[in-house]
Amino acid sequence: MLDNFFNPESIAIVGASRTPGKVGHDIVENIIQYGYERAVYPINPQASTICGQKSYPSLLDIPGNVDLAVIVVPSQGVLEVIDQCGEKNIDSAVIITAGFKESGTAGARLERELIDRAKKNGVRFIGPNCLGIIDTNLKLNASFAAGMPLRGGIGFFSQSGAICLAVLDRALPDGIGFSKFISLGNKSDISDTDIMLALAEDDNTRVILGYIEGIDNGREFMEVAARVSKKKPVIILKSGVTGSGAKAASSHTGSLAGREAAFDAAFKQTGIIRAYTINDLFNYALAFANQPVPEGPHVAIITNSGGPGILAADACDKSDLQLVPLRKDLVDELRTFLPSVASFYNPIDILGDSGSDRYEKTLLTVLKDKKIDGIIIILTPTAVVDVDATAMAIANIAQGLARPVLASFLGKQSVQAGITTLMKYHVPNFSYPEEAVAAMNVMYHYNLWQNSPAKTYPDFSVLNREARDIFQGVMKEKRSHLKDSESQEVLKTYGFRFPKNSFARTSAEAIQAARTIGYPVVMKIMSPQVIHKSDIGGVRLNLKSDDEIAKAFFEITTHVRNIIPSAQIYGVMIQEMIKGGKEIIAGITKDPQFGHMVMFGMGGIYVEVLKDISFRITPLSLEDAHDMIRETRTFPLLRGVRGEPEADIAAIENALLMLSHMSSDFPYILEADINPLLVMERGKGIVALDARFSIGGD
Ligand code: COA
Repeated sequence: MLDNFFNPESIAIVGASRTPGKVGHDIVENIIQYGYERAVYPINPQASTICGQKSYPSLLDIPGNVDLAVIVVPSQGVLEVIDQCGEKNIDSAVIITAGFKESGTAGARLERELIDRAKKNGVRFIGPNCLGIIDTNLKLNASFAAGMPLRGGIGFFSQSGAICLAVLDRALPDGIGFSKFISLGNKSDISDTDIMLALAEDDNTRVILGYIEGIDNGREFMEVAARVSKKKPVIILKSGVTGSGAKAASSHTGSLAGREAAFDAAFKQTGIIRAYTINDLFNYALAFANQPVPEGPHVAIITNSGGPGILAADACDKSDLQLVPLRKDLVDELRTFLPSVASFYNPIDILGDSGSDRYEKTLLTVLKDKKIDGIIIILTPTAVVDVDATAMAIANIAQGLARPVLASFLGKQSVQAGITTLMKYHVPNFSYPEEAVAAMNVMYHYNLWQNSPAKTYPDFSVLNREARDIFQGVMKEKRSHLKDSESQEVLKTYGFRFPKNSFARTSAEAIQAARTIGYPVVMKIMSPQVIHKSDIGGVRLNLKSDDEIAKAFFEITTHVRNIIPSAQIYGVMIQEMIKGGKEIIAGITKDPQFGHMVMFGMGGIYVEVLKDISFRITPLSLEDAHDMIRETRTFPLLRGVRGEPEADIAAIENALLMLSHMSSDFPYILEADINPLLVMERGKGIVALDARFSIGGD
């Protein structure tokens, strides 16, 4: 796939310049100086040679075939070059030129024309507005980056040219190697998804790294990412919010979704490892590119100093890794060669006067314990330690091991040579112990992901005719919000239970309704202008008598009228008072790139402050529903604390799956909000107290 980009037999550079320092000159220079051995054709109407290479006035003058065109002419000339590509049967182009949608309306128009023109001519292209591409195995540097990365197992793509340059500049002195380096620019044709697929197929790429700001087709991205990440680790640094979630949201679910919820969910659901900083991106890539992943969570730490060992242990504690004691006979073995004041438990502190021999023997002993899944070796540069000999000893043992060994040689100057030795033998070094732990932790999670069975998608069949009729009725009336009663009816179709309730226009009707339902009851204001009823004092709980009803009716209606004078007050809803249960919130929202998402969270009036919520993109699998409940901070409350009974977690899972199912039945649902939703004790289900729906679009 994308063969002519990554294995071209010949390259033409259109806009090759005679002037050193111009982009069109530096690209030709890079292609030649880094050793690309195949045909190179600079194109310049006025030159006969560029960088010592015969130059041609136009693409059409080249005698042979051209596989790849690198276009670096000013923006007004790009379309004509694309036409020439078509005429010359060149199907692949890298467009470096800027001045397209990133530059305003005229540029955006030009970009749309470019897309059309490229399609017409059968040309696939990377860019525009990009830095170019690099393939270290081909010794091809078709970019204007200064320097050539070393060969290695990391395939990197980036939406930002500046991030490409920063990554390259940082990688060079650290000896970090890449297979391919792709600057995607405006991504108006070839996308992150295409590149992920190409890197998945590339034998030289062990780990895929990406920097993205936004994506256009979230569903396609997820489908591809889920497949690719089973094959190779995919690590993404995501920034640059798209504003997709910034639309005015009238529900809790919508406002809580924020801008990043969809990406977060998409990454979790597809096994993408998310990096939050460029440093993370590097660290994770280094670990994956050089070491095998741990089969389990058990880690051993070997250190020559207490403090850094404890920092590493603390970091393990906060991660999902576990420090387990070494086997008894191996602890005895350690005692035969370590000083008696050493620490024989995990972290194993071999003390500050250690030489390379202690590191070597300790590592060999630890490796005899088969329950240890990975090892982190910390070295503080004391005066007695021979850093390079220690690095060599570690590297010798780590070679070919099926378990990961990560190092953290602390400091800079005195450990640099040792780090170079470690890197040479594929033992990655991390500046700080916590970073080594973080890298081990993501590797452990990746192993879990890679070995996780295929997800299970439940097959519901819901007789949803009634819900369909309600939605169609709302659409016919050109409304975007459902009335409370309509929202309830829709949810009832999907198995949600609501308290008994009855609408009352007057105080007398309210008393009659309360008697029929049975005291105690709840009273709620019914007005289309009141969205969050309790926020403005529109809800009264636990009303126990006719008198209390009459008083509450008067107070609520007067109060609401005072606060929102324009409010139309239809009356009140009298509702059965549900006792017990814990407040949760569930809902549906729609992201422009990823489509519907289901939300779960702990409810109550602090929901928007605490934001203890989780999202998954639909369709939800059983595993998604299971995980999203458990990843909230307050999940232990559902398990029950201080002797409380456990909540009906299975009923919540089922409800989330039903919401997912409902959103696929009705694509035009924009938002649904079930809040509060009460979860009763195990076996007793859930009861929805209030719900809101908005619909629109397709
Ligand atoms: N075919 C062949 N050669 C052409 C040409 C065409 N249609 N049009 C121009 N050229 C030649 C010029 O003669 C010139 O050669 P010379 O210097 O030997 O005279 C060379 O191509 C460059 O053209 P020039 O008009 O000097 O443009 P430029 O070098 O000032 O700028 C770009 C061209 C593409 C670099 C510039 O428009 C641009 O987009 N710069 C930003 C690039 C960028 O930042 N990309 C994103 C990175 S993340």
